[in-house]
Amino acid sequence: MTEDRTLLSVRGIEVSFAGVKAADNVTLSINRGDFTAIIGANGSGKTTFLNICTGYVKPQAGAVYLEGRDITALPPRDIAQQGIARSFQIPQLFTDQTVRENLMLSIAAREGIFQGFTPLDRREYREEADVFLALVGLESVADSLAGTLPEGKRKLADVTLALALKPRLLLLDEPTSGVSALERFDIMETLMAALRERQTSALFVEHDMEVVRSYADRVLVWDAGRVISDGQPGPVFSDERVIKSVLGAM
Ligand SMILES: Nc1ncnc2c1ncn2[C@@H]1O[C@H](COP(=O)(O)OP(=O)(O)OP(=O)(O)O)[C@@H](O)[C@H]1O
Ligand SMILES: [Mg+2]
Repeated sequence: MTEDRTLLSVRGIEVSFAGVKAADNVTLSINRGDFTAIIGANGSGKTTFLNICTGYVKPQAGAVYLEGRDITALPPRDIAQQGIARSFQIPQLFTDQTVRENLMLSIAAREGIFQGFTPLDRREYREEADVFLALVGLESVADSLAGTLPEGKRKLADVTLALALKPRLLLLDEPTSGVSALERFDIMETLMAALRERQTSALFVEHDMEVVRSYADRVLVWDAGRVISDGQPGPVFSDERVIKSVLGAM
């Protein structure tokens, strides 16, 4: 018997915004243990897909399953509690709180405690926050206000907030955008080591094809709300449709 590696699956997902199809009958599965990349031109529906999986956008048709359980109707907070966490295209850190305080808020939220902007200064949250900071090498900025971080560290801190939710699946919307080409690889190395250590599967939207080629086990190519190619980076990058719709346009 082969083991079922399916972690997340979507079936027949449809989302339109004012007549524009952002998801056009999307059916696919994400496997446990994989680091899956999503690529595609601007406006092709990549962020919409992450929004659907995390409950921020509700599909007009179709369903989302996490380990076989239908999560389509659940609100984002419940989906996070079920094991899917995400980072956003624009980091969502509280800029006037320190990096450690941001992490403590994330840990408290995971425990079901939501107190808005009040830092929850419990020793166990502080200690756990420091474990996550060490995991991604951000110890030196623990006491810095999140709003003062350089972009690379800010992106990494944002991903760490999502990791602190202890997800089974982490969705990352352009984790390396806005940073130098060199720094992108540092972020990815750190991230990959952290994901391995936490045994967390991930799906990430990425525009840098070298990053995708270096780190992804699988690539899903979006075009006008549809997946037009799906496979390992090598074959996908030599697929004529991908060259025409994504690579040629870059
Ligand atoms: N909340 C919304 N309201 C209206 N239209 C939306 C909304 N979210 C997305 N869209 C539209 O849906 C389409 C897909 O957008 P989406 O943000 O998913 O693209 P993307 O692939 O993430 O693009 P980018 O690479 O620029 O981040 C676009 O035409 C966009 O304008
Ligand atoms: Mg996007």
